[in-house]
Amino acid sequence: MSGLFAVIGDPIDHSLSPNIHSAAFRELNLGCSYIAYRIPKGQLKSGIEGLKKIQVSGFNVTVPHKVEMVKHADKLDESCSLIGAVNTVENKDGVLKGYNTDMDGFLDPFKKKGIPIKDLKVLLLGAGGAARAIVAGFAKEKAGEITIANRTVQKAEELSEFSKENGLDATHVGVAEVGDSAKNYDIVVNATSVGLKNERSPISLDSLRGDAIVYDIVYMPMNTDFIKRAKERGARIIFGYEMLLGQAVRAFEIWHDVKAPYDAMKKALLGGGV
Ligand code: ATR
Repeated sequence: MSGLFAVIGDPIDHSLSPNIHSAAFRELNLGCSYIAYRIPKGQLKSGIEGLKKIQVSGFNVTVPHKVEMVKHADKLDESCSLIGAVNTVENKDGVLKGYNTDMDGFLDPFKKKGIPIKDLKVLLLGAGGAARAIVAGFAKEKAGEITIANRTVQKAEELSEFSKENGLDATHVGVAEVGDSAKNYDIVVNATSVGLKNERSPISLDSLRGDAIVYDIVYMPMNTDFIKRAKERGARIIFGYEMLLGQAVRAFEIWHDVKAPYDAMKKALLGGGV
């Protein structure tokens, strides 16, 4: 194994994955390195050939290549055939195996905090690639009911169908129609990109119950308006960085066959004080 790893995408300059994985290498004294490698949309095939030539042992895949990568993998783990997207690739002697660690990454904070999901009522905002991995996670953990709210209602409907195929009791709604219904849910998840640019929360959380769990997958900024409003209601918060770490830990363990040093990886992300 060459010990070289990468994350591919475009844009890629601001990816936090090199920091997280490099911290883990240092902690475990592994002689490995991890680089950010820009591959523009439409150039995935030649980009992957380049990675194979320099004998990369594994790579993460991010926007815009997660769905396209399915076609370029020689083998697919069950996780990515279900979700229809790849975010982690293992290269064994030129044979590429695709995985999706987003679902396990999403579930990881619930496991760490000992929060069972079974039978809970979920409101999921968003119906893109990330939301699909999240639905697969809720299906795996047998959530009670799920409402999918999205700006484009047709996409909410499609994800609701996917939820039903995976055994969930699902309904869908336009995100503008959610109104004051936050009070009806045990878990509210923001899986839209709203918040990345400091926008207002996509829905009102004024009626949120104090015992609700609120999870934002946006990790930069950490305290989005959605999170701030949830905190005001006294809800239990799960931050986007917790999912980011969860998926990185799982990818690390696929590649290295050793337990990932979670605390060192977390420190690389949040700095010494947290
Ligand atoms: P990802 O892979 O991160 O899920 P994506 O597939 O592009 O990215 O999905 C982005 C999600 O954010 C979608 O649910 C999108 O809603 P649409 O399906 O209507 O596009 C949602 N989103 C992005 N900008 C939004 C906005 N300003 N208001 C509401 N939803 C928004």
